[in-house]
Amino acid sequence: MSYLTKNYNRKNIAFIKGKGSYLFSNKGKKYLDFVQGIAVNSLGHAHPELIKALNKQSKKLWHVSNSFVIPEGEKLAKKIAKNTFADFVMFQNSGAEATEAAIKVAKRYFYSIGKPNKNRILCIKNSFHGRTLAAIYASGSKKMTEGFGPKVSGFDHFNFGDHRSLKKLITKNTAAVMVETIMGEGGIKVVPDWCLKGLRKLCNKKNVLLILDEVQCGIGRTGDFFAFEKSKVKPDIVPIAKGIGGGFPIGAVLMNKKVASGMTSGTHGSTFGGNPLAMQIGNTVFDIIFKKGFLNNVKKNSDYFLQELIKIKDKYPKIIKEVRGRGFLIGLQLYSDQTEFIKKLMDKKLLTIRAAENVVRILPPLNVKKFELTQAIKIINKVCSIY
Ligand SMILES: Cc1ncc(COP(=O)(O)O)c(C=O)c1O
Repeated sequence: MSYLTKNYNRKNIAFIKGKGSYLFSNKGKKYLDFVQGIAVNSLGHAHPELIKALNKQSKKLWHVSNSFVIPEGEKLAKKIAKNTFADFVMFQNSGAEATEAAIKVAKRYFYSIGKPNKNRILCIKNSFHGRTLAAIYASGSKKMTEGFGPKVSGFDHFNFGDHRSLKKLITKNTAAVMVETIMGEGGIKVVPDWCLKGLRKLCNKKNVLLILDEVQCGIGRTGDFFAFEKSKVKPDIVPIAKGIGGGFPIGAVLMNKKVASGMTSGTHGSTFGGNPLAMQIGNTVFDIIFKKGFLNNVKKNSDYFLQELIKIKDKYPKIIKEVRGRGFLIGLQLYSDQTEFIKKLMDKKLLTIRAAENVVRILPPLNVKKFELTQAIKIINKVCSIY
């Protein structure tokens, strides 16, 4: 009997230890973990530098209120500002909080410049921005919003790739367009660089803010710190979470100076967001990802992995329809439901997770070793051969 609510469809397996790319079950079995807490453990399990940072900070100070200066948070915000498009950072605890706060930042900016009616947010239908009330209505998913009425208003939706309706739906009341640079839960659908560029231009022309949700695809997962970097586009607001904490709950909203001007004292807050313990870990994750060669290694290893996956697709064209994604945010789109395929991978000790459109989502840690990728390729090949 479990006393936990039944809102998760949990697999009947528990893990008691993790090390790098591996998880160890309570039945003594070792698994190659290419879920990594859904892109959370960016540096794998039990990274020695993260353990050191956690231990050290835990003996000094865990938590103080945001009513006081938190030097560890100041430090991380400065690093982010010096290395990205952002001028200011607002720390949260999770992805949904970060996307919801991003929406608040956009609305508040227009309010602060005397345009309170410019408050609608345009999103992609069936996208994913988290599970709070505003976030589910931002996602525009029938399944996620069912039973949670009345509807949170202020969101409009266009279909992925439908540029005509995107243009049509921007009105004088639109405050921002919010999209995931790469749709994660939606099936690893990449917004191409030329679309990002066009979107930025359109937003400029219509005086609309651009919010790029990098909760899943950011923090080095694509081989760049942000998935949008290759496009050279500068968004106004970027919610992040997952990978920046390496397993510790951290979220943040990054923004430029213009929109940050609306976030005056008392406009937003969080009890836990940006506490010293979280910030010490965030700083350590950030420093490791920004070490010379780290992101290049992600690019090199993920290129190898992607090429090998494409070879498998070519060998089994009746099973795998498409290899999607970029870097270590990868989807194998199957022709049929992926449940059995994921189960078979798990039987062979490779953990993966589903995404929409029959996609098997593969999320290795960013510091995965090449032989571990080769091991995964062997398992995927094997499962295709018996599928
Ligand atoms: C793109 C995106 N935004 C927001 C979220 C919500 O994050 P969290 O589950 O930490 O609230 C997720 C989670 O998967 C996500 O993928």
